[in-house]
Amino acid sequence: MRIILLGAPGAGKGTAAVKIAAKYGAAHISTGDLLRKNIKEGTELGKKAKEFVDNGHLVPDELVIALVKDSVGKIESFLFDGFPRTTEQAKAVDTFTAIDKVINLQIDEALLMSRITGRRICKDCAAVYHVDLLNGKDKCSLCGGKLCQRADDNEATVKSRLDVYKKQTAPLIDYYKQQNKLIDIDAGREAAAVFADVEKILG
Ligand code: AP5
Repeated sequence: MRIILLGAPGAGKGTAAVKIAAKYGAAHISTGDLLRKNIKEGTELGKKAKEFVDNGHLVPDELVIALVKDSVGKIESFLFDGFPRTTEQAKAVDTFTAIDKVINLQIDEALLMSRITGRRICKDCAAVYHVDLLNGKDKCSLCGGKLCQRADDNEATVKSRLDVYKKQTAPLIDYYKQQNKLIDIDAGREAAAVFADVEKILG
């Protein structure tokens, strides 16, 4: 299985990806998670990426493409979450692997701000939650780690990320339509309904 999850910030790519990886045994390759890990660990890549991520701008293509190629290595079955995000990145993917399907999580922009500003992630294992469903809990139910807000989940940065998505990533919808790989899903529904549609697509 070689899948791409496409969608605006907050559409639910990470949430669906965790479930797909668990059910189908595919490696979950999230460029956002990889970049945040590098930033946290203070690696050379992390130092170069930090300012872009903090401001909601895209990290330069060559850095992200090298990061993904390195992560894929010899892995046969994977899903990309948050990659590719530019036409350059999509063209690079075509040079090193053959994608089976691209699942496009469609969502009304009005829903995105509350999803993102209400997101909490585990500091230790990066599991994703939403304040509306936490009932006041502040610890990760998987590892007990402290829940916190992502540095780029404030309103101003989200606006910039949405702008970047429209200009630089949305054109990939047509790119993959032309390759007959694109399948749309209504991601504005509850997570279980979204995943039921994913299962229908993946079998
Ligand atoms: P990244 O981490 O990829 O962020 P993003 O694309 O903005 O996506 P999000 O993680 O915000 O949202 P998501 O769709 O995964 O939603 P989630 O499932 O968490 O990238 C961050 C930054 O890194 C970028 O801005 C850029 O700087 C850099 N970067 C990353 N990739 C790059 C690349 N390829 N090239 C260059 N730069 C790159 O859900 C959101 C919230 O909603 C959660 O609280 C969740 O619990 C809730 N939720 C999810 N689904 C549902 C549902 N169905 N109903 C109700 N609530 C839901």
